[in-house]
Amino acid sequence: MSHPLEQLRDDALREIDSAPNEQALEAARVKFLGKSGSISSWGEQMKSLSKEEKPIVGKLLNEVRTAVTNAIDARGETFRSQKETESLAKIDISLPGTPNERGSLHPLTQMLDRSIAIFRRMGFALADGPDVEDEWHCFDALNTPPDHPARNEADTFYLPDGRLLRTHTSTVQIRTMTAAPPPIRVIAPGAAYRRDEVDATHGAQFHQIEGLYVDRNVSVADLKGTMEYLMHELFGAETQVRFRPHYFPFTEPSLEIDVKSKALKGGEQWIEVCGSGMVHPAVFEQVNKARGDDAYDPNEWTGFAFGLGMDRLAMILFGVPDIRLFAQNDLRFLRQFA
Ligand code: DAH
Repeated sequence: MSHPLEQLRDDALREIDSAPNEQALEAARVKFLGKSGSISSWGEQMKSLSKEEKPIVGKLLNEVRTAVTNAIDARGETFRSQKETESLAKIDISLPGTPNERGSLHPLTQMLDRSIAIFRRMGFALADGPDVEDEWHCFDALNTPPDHPARNEADTFYLPDGRLLRTHTSTVQIRTMTAAPPPIRVIAPGAAYRRDEVDATHGAQFHQIEGLYVDRNVSVADLKGTMEYLMHELFGAETQVRFRPHYFPFTEPSLEIDVKSKALKGGEQWIEVCGSGMVHPAVFEQVNKARGDDAYDPNEWTGFAFGLGMDRLAMILFGVPDIRLFAQNDLRFLRQFA
C-alpha cells in the first residue's frame, strides 16, 4: 500500500500539470506548499511520529516537496514561454525595416575626384601643404612683393603670430620644390581663403587644384596640351579652350584659361576657370636660396604651373547659380548630386 504522502504527491502533480493558467497554478502552489498547505502541514505531523518512522517519513516528505516544487517551476516555465511566443507572433516580420539613409559625395568633392583622376592619368602625383601658412611660402617665394595688394590685411586672414590662411594653393609649389629636386609633376588640391566680400561668386573659403610641372624643355605647348586634355575629358571633346595673356608675379608669361562648351550650363559664353603660366625664374631662385643649392637652375629647368578654381568649375558643370550653396549643407541642394 502506498503511503498517504505518495498519494498527496500524485494528486498535487496531477493538479499542477492540468492547471489551465498561471492563476490556477498559483492556487495549487498555495494549496500544497503554502504555509498551511497540505505538504507543509505534514511537517507538523512529523513531531508525533515514532523514532523509527521519523527518518523514513522525513525522507519521503523531502522527496515529495522537491517533486512538487519542480513540477510547479516546470509548469510556470511553460506558461512563460507560451506568453513569449504569443507576443512574438504579434510582430509582423514582413514589415519593411527602417531604411538607412544613403549619403553621397558633395558636388565639390565629385568635381575634385574627377579632375584628380584625369591628372593622375597624365602622371601627376598628389602633393599637399598646410592651410595655415607663413608669408614667405604664400608671397615672397612666389615673387610677390611686400606692397602687393594680395598681402593687404584687408584682403587676407592673418593670425596674431603673423601667419595667415593661404590665399592660394600656389604655396604647395614652393613646399614641393624645397623638399625635392626636379623633375616635378604634381597637383595639390585644397582650400584657399580670402577676405572677399561674400556674394554669389565669392566665398571666404574656396577650392583650387594647383599644378606644377618642372622638367627640361617644358614649354607653353605642354601647358596648353595638358589643360586642353583636362577640359575635354571633363566637359566633352567639343569644349573650346582659350588662353589669354595675363599677369601673375610668379609666372612669365602668364595666361588665363577660359572654356566654352555647349555641355556647360554657362551656354555659349567664355568662362574663366584657371590661372597659369611658365614658372618665373625668380621663383626658382627663391627655392634654390631656401634649399641652399642650385637644383632648380633656371638655365637648365623650366616649368609650367596653374591654379584651377574648383568652385567655379563645379558651378558651371552642375549649373549652380550661387557659390554659397556649397557651404550651406542644405540637403535639398546636396541630394540633387547624389
Ligand atoms: N594662385 C593664383 C590665384 O589664386 C592662380 C594661379 C595662377 C596659380 C598662375 C598658378 C599660376 O600656379 O601659374 O589666383
